Amino acid sequence: MGVAGGLLALGYDTASTEGRVGRSLTSEESDFLTKNGYVVVKGFATKNECNQLQKRIEQLADEFDPNAADRLSPFSSHEEDREKSDDYFLTSGDKIRFFWEPHAMDENGKLVMNKRQALNKVGHALHVHDDVFRSFVYDTLRPCVESVGFKQPIPLQTMYICKSQRAGGEVTAHQDSSFLYTEPLSTHGLWLSVHQADESNGCLWVIPGSHSIPLYKRFVSDGKQAVLRTHEHKGDLPLEGGVPLPTEIGDLVILHGNVVHWSEANMSDRPRHAYMLHVIDGACHYPEDNWLQYPPGKPFPSYDRVAASTHSS
Ligand code: FE2
Repeated sequence: MGVAGGLLALGYDTASTEGRVGRSLTSEESDFLTKNGYVVVKGFATKNECNQLQKRIEQLADEFDPNAADRLSPFSSHEEDREKSDDYFLTSGDKIRFFWEPHAMDENGKLVMNKRQALNKVGHALHVHDDVFRSFVYDTLRPCVESVGFKQPIPLQTMYICKSQRAGGEVTAHQDSSFLYTEPLSTHGLWLSVHQADESNGCLWVIPGSHSIPLYKRFVSDGKQAVLRTHEHKGDLPLEGGVPLPTEIGDLVILHGNVVHWSEANMSDRPRHAYMLHVIDGACHYPEDNWLQYPPGKPFPSYDRVAASTHSS
């Protein structure tokens, strides 16, 4: 069964769009992920699928009227900026919202750059509300997610990350479990290379094996304000031993939630778009002070077609 029937059971609006069913991890890929905290799945998606995702985000961006918003919301991965997360960000978990490169805005929060180029990312529920992203997550990515080893995989969050040519900012070193925390740890990220990526246009960097270090920080929120606080280890994350992960169009990188990774700014003439899904295990506890919460009574999306019973909101 494709995405449409299952999501009807969740009470979401659905359409009949169904995507190609992708593949599971091979045992070699699974073993590599377990050992290193990441794996590159070569040629997971087709060029056409990547192109469809890009075209759809461009359509959404073109339809977005920046003048209709009181103030646009910048997104920066710098630690000191995380705590400036506003209500627009903190309530974006179940919505499609637009975040902009900080340097693409003037002091009044208006864009000073071409809209498509100024876009930093769109998140965090494209896969819940948009047919194109929904079919990619529920049909194409599903077998791969299921082969990662979750008891009850929850496709919690997706982001289309633009990192546009001559505009996309750096993403400093971090562990994804800092932002989507479960007890025990279960978060994994699936990062699709929509464009070819290398060191010149801001590819991913990862420290192999760093998923075995402690979780340094947690981004906690009371719903109004968020703070990045020390969790299991004080100090800065290590950067030694980082390796670049050059990827071709359609390659899929899977990241364990504790693995240290980052990407540089894109000062090249080539865009470096990516579509990222974060999955948690619904069998794990999802604390109330995680920033991403759904309104009371609205269940998280689930591959199992049933509401996750353990999350708080
Ligand atoms: Fe990340």
